[in-house]
Amino acid sequence: MIKKAVLPVAGLGTRFLPASKATPKEMLPIIDKPLVQYAVEEAIKEGINEIIFITSNEKNSIERHFKKNKKIETRLIRSGKNNFVEKLNPKIFENVTFKYVIQKSQKGLGDAVLQAEKYIKNESFVVLLPDDLFISKKTCLNQIISLNKKTDSTVIGLNKVDKAKIHKYGVIKPGIVKNKIIQISDMVEKPLIKNAPSDIAILGRYVFTPSIFKYLKKVKRDSSNEIQLTNAIKLQIEHEEVFGCIYNGQKFDCGSKEGFVHATIALALKDKTMNRKIKKIIRDII
Ligand code: G1P
Repeated sequence: MIKKAVLPVAGLGTRFLPASKATPKEMLPIIDKPLVQYAVEEAIKEGINEIIFITSNEKNSIERHFKKNKKIETRLIRSGKNNFVEKLNPKIFENVTFKYVIQKSQKGLGDAVLQAEKYIKNESFVVLLPDDLFISKKTCLNQIISLNKKTDSTVIGLNKVDKAKIHKYGVIKPGIVKNKIIQISDMVEKPLIKNAPSDIAILGRYVFTPSIFKYLKKVKRDSSNEIQLTNAIKLQIEHEEVFGCIYNGQKFDCGSKEGFVHATIALALKDKTMNRKIKKIIRDII
């Protein structure tokens, strides 16, 4: 059973300045919940009980957010607002350990994942990139964990993207495909359209076997002096089977402003208490 999740959250969030100046990008809300909490809830739903944030010194509000706040809880209860207590201190956080590792310098996603090694050691684990938000019957993490249970291998969440957008993602070269399970034969990080091996991109959910740490240490820095996670997986593919499955559901790239607004509208429309009002607002605007 996979119990540990790594969430890299050390990035500067440049695209969201000035909002991300004093508030980490991951703490910006989609409706009433910080973006990062969606990924944390997805992980907990799939049985994760240890969440390791790879973070920076500037982002201690993330740590405050996942800690129980007794003071505000008492104030809420005193003023008769008991029904807000669950929102403040969710029960599902109670049996989860949150750990924080400071990534001293921005050396890429691969370096961020490597920082978690001391807490993971020799077991399989998941990585969630909180920028990717999903709406689906079975969570995205559930879909890849199920495949990991069958294969005991590294499994990566995938989705097909427009060729025009392929340069924004890691892109795989599919090998044998059986019952929607794709054995990955190669991958490349953010290729030019003409060099992309397929239109199948890597999304922000991964299950890793612990050997990934060995490959993260071997991998060479890229031209921007970063350790790319994709390049470490590429090395892993040379020694082990690595699989992927095409995610079934909706995906929002909240790392971009359009994706963030899209997710906000989609979740507002999904919320029964707001649905009609939001529809009316949209109709009026249009
Ligand atoms: C990262 C990965 C990339 C992947 C993407 C998914 O890129 O490096 O392979 O496709 O996440 O969101 P980033 O979005 O951090 O630039």
